Amino acid sequence: MRIGVPRESDEQALVAATPDTVGKLIKLGYEVVVEHDAGARASFPDTLYDSAGARIVSKEEAWAADIVTALDAPASAELDMMRQGATLIARMAPGRHQDILDALSSRGITGLAMDMVPRISRAQSMDVLSSLANVAGYRSVIEAAHHFGRLFSGQVTAAGKVAPASVYVIGAGVAGLAAIGTANSMGAIVKATDVRAETAEQVESMGAQFVAIPVAAQESSDGYAKEMGQEQARAAEALYAEQAAAADVVITTAAIPGRRSPVLLTAEAVAGMKPGSVVVDMGAANGGNVVGSRPDEVVVTENGVTIIGYTELAGRLPAQSSQLYGQNVVNFFKLTTPEKDGMLHLDLDDEIVRQMLVTLEERVMFPPPPVRVSAAPVARPAPVAPAEPEPVKEKSWVAKHWWKAAAAALFTLLILAAPPGSTTHFMVFLLSVVIGFYVITAVTHALHTPLMSVTNAISGIIVVGALLQVGAHNLAVQILAFIAIAVASINIFGGFLVTERMLKMFHRS
Ligand code: NAI
Repeated sequence: MRIGVPRESDEQALVAATPDTVGKLIKLGYEVVVEHDAGARASFPDTLYDSAGARIVSKEEAWAADIVTALDAPASAELDMMRQGATLIARMAPGRHQDILDALSSRGITGLAMDMVPRISRAQSMDVLSSLANVAGYRSVIEAAHHFGRLFSGQVTAAGKVAPASVYVIGAGVAGLAAIGTANSMGAIVKATDVRAETAEQVESMGAQFVAIPVAAQESSDGYAKEMGQEQARAAEALYAEQAAAADVVITTAAIPGRRSPVLLTAEAVAGMKPGSVVVDMGAANGGNVVGSRPDEVVVTENGVTIIGYTELAGRLPAQSSQLYGQNVVNFFKLTTPEKDGMLHLDLDDEIVRQMLVTLEERVMFPPPPVRVSAAPVARPAPVAPAEPEPVKEKSWVAKHWWKAAAAALFTLLILAAPPGSTTHFMVFLLSVVIGFYVITAVTHALHTPLMSVTNAISGIIVVGALLQVGAHNLAVQILAFIAIAVASINIFGGFLVTERMLKMFHRS
């Protein structure tokens, strides 16, 4: 089958396939045609697609392919160029765009929505919402840092101390966690809040402090938030206003699927913020999390707060975002082209395919049956009444320490029985055991394996003894010495090799 990759509309800098992913699609048996200049804005000129094996074609020919992969559902002019029975793979937001479902079904086009990939572990490699939200979360911090007229990291200089910026992230989903990680790595002090209780651990593992809403948090069964109750909403609003007033940068990423973005920062909360602080409203495209934000604009309020409402943050890093999107598409084709024969097999019993399928030729297939996802918290086992503890029998002093006394007695006997002059050897042995014990226990656990392999190499010192014996007159001694040299050499070189490999794992590239 032929896959078409059209040039996106002027507002969209991304492209649905890169030269790298085109090569992967061809390996799955497909023929790929790419519209002239499709990847130009993501720094992928036609020549690169050409060398990857794609054919550069006109707009009409790209849209007339058997399968079209695009970023967003196209306007009707483009849909008119598609053939009846063809397949469209793109982001469609089917919950909010009944018009797209009608447009596809009336033309007999099978629609697969890339933004409907379920949040189950098996589907992670196809989840465009995650891959692009991850990039967007990173970019939100870069945009904030650009508009924030101060350093993010704290500094101690001869001229005095500079405090680190404080960043507050509301909504710890994919975008929020990426923003937390980025702000943290730039040296800011990061705090975050989410309505879903299970995110607290994730927030803390990213190095931020979790600030809980002081009214029972939600447990999610599908990885997404539900709308809050009145009491929780009031508590949340007060908390957000209080935290925003103390923060230098606030990043809002709250979303509830199929609904308008919840308002997190009211006009009063923004008015209470410090002059010079920055808010990035990642929900700006869907109604906004912040009162006063405007889609795709940067607004400066009367009290000097900058509100950034960019709706295509991932599009500001077009090459990598296109690569991630293209790879998500390739992973979907890997699932649906098991024979690598260039034929799309849609198995409706596969929950990934079923969730993504919004139209099947003339039939509207949306909404799909619900799916339980891996982001859901694991059910807690019912508390078990603690069993009566068994009375612990206290061991007698003799039973505890007899072996130490026996070892000391044995060692003393050994020294007494040893030939005169070897006492110093025993002393050296004892001292090395004590020093070795303290040196090794002072090394962090992560470095134990490289440490062991290097001591292994050093213990190859046995080779010296073997070298002295290899010239002996007895053949048996010679053979034994040779074997000792061979084995000790493996110990030495193998030990150093393993050490080097292990230490490389700790290097930052
Ligand atoms: P997600 O569903 O993974 O995360 C949203 C998080 O917000 C969830 O953890 C949810 O529990 C939380 N949440 C919902 N209501 C809340 C409330 N009232 N208070 C606190 N937390 C609340 O979504 P994802 O993928 O992280 O995207 C987040 C938002 O960013 C979405 O609105 C999405 O449309 C937007 N986005 C914007 C981009 C841009 O360029 N501006 C690019 C990518 C995503």
